[in-house]
Amino acid sequence: MSMSSIQEQVARYGYVTEAVADDLDLIAEINRLKKEKNAVILAHYYVDGAIQDIADYIGDSLGLSQQAAATPADMIVFCGVHFMGETAKVLSPNKKVVIPDLNAGCSLADSAPADKFAAFKAQYPDHLVISYINCSAEIKALTDIVCTSSNALQIVNSLPKDQKIIFAPDANLGRYVAHKTGRDLVLWDGACIVHIDISREKLQKLREENPDALLIAHPECKEDILLQADFVSSTTGLLKFVQEYPHDKFIVATEAGILHKMKESVPHKKLIPAPATDNNTCACSECPYMKMNTLEKLYNALLYEQPEIIVPENTRLKAYASVARMLELSKGI
Ligand code: 13P
Ligand code: SF4
Repeated sequence: MSMSSIQEQVARYGYVTEAVADDLDLIAEINRLKKEKNAVILAHYYVDGAIQDIADYIGDSLGLSQQAAATPADMIVFCGVHFMGETAKVLSPNKKVVIPDLNAGCSLADSAPADKFAAFKAQYPDHLVISYINCSAEIKALTDIVCTSSNALQIVNSLPKDQKIIFAPDANLGRYVAHKTGRDLVLWDGACIVHIDISREKLQKLREENPDALLIAHPECKEDILLQADFVSSTTGLLKFVQEYPHDKFIVATEAGILHKMKESVPHKKLIPAPATDNNTCACSECPYMKMNTLEKLYNALLYEQPEIIVPENTRLKAYASVARMLELSKGI
């Protein structure tokens, strides 16, 4: 297959659509290509278990950016969503960064178009901008410090009490940070479609049926869920909590992909995913973007080195400053 027709497929569909032979041992081939090309596979906890199992590193947004900044590999294959691949490219401009499917977006990143955000920011000239990493490179370029759900409290607390702050784009995380730090943050009104879709009524029923379960939640959830949660943290924080906290039953209010690692590491504990509003087949919350990553698309991305993430250098340099500031402030996390 010629490179120009592969690029045509990517331009038209967002990923390499070449059919993979039925009898191909995908796992063995992915491992072979990875070695041959000195590539590293980074995967977020929300992607399918089969991809997590083959990844070199699985993590939350902070862990993945730390890995992307430090890896000695020549190529990064990022199994997550678009802004994660972009962040990896911002941090490692000399490496080739590919993602299995360019369509894997994020409702939070989509909620903040750069032109509208620039106009919003202009209304608050004396405010510093803290942006959740779930945003485009253009938004990162308009940002002073990036944060993730692992370090948002620490980063806000590192600033002087009288520092005025815009927090974007997740209003739920922003409200949580404002509540925890006692700060008055100016919020951009974005949300994660997955976490806000957890059903209050179904969760209430589930808690009544399981009064002995602790409720643990990701801070992208709505305020009423966070207020009743026994523990709130990032994806990695939730995983560590079920591993370390001496309790056997948890209701997990976040994307269900994290249950793969949780079940693997604490098979004796009972883990119940919080229910989504939709009566979907898994009766849980799944990110449709994360689930666009498949083993076939991962294989094609490695083989053809497409779709490649490209970030214009002027945007990259400005975005780099805000991400690097986050990494600096997160040493030790
Ligand atoms: P963390 O990886 O920071 O837990 O955020 C979860 C998420 O929604 C990633 O898109
Ligand atoms: Fe974006 Fe939510 Fe999906 Fe994370 S889970 S990628 S925040 S839509």
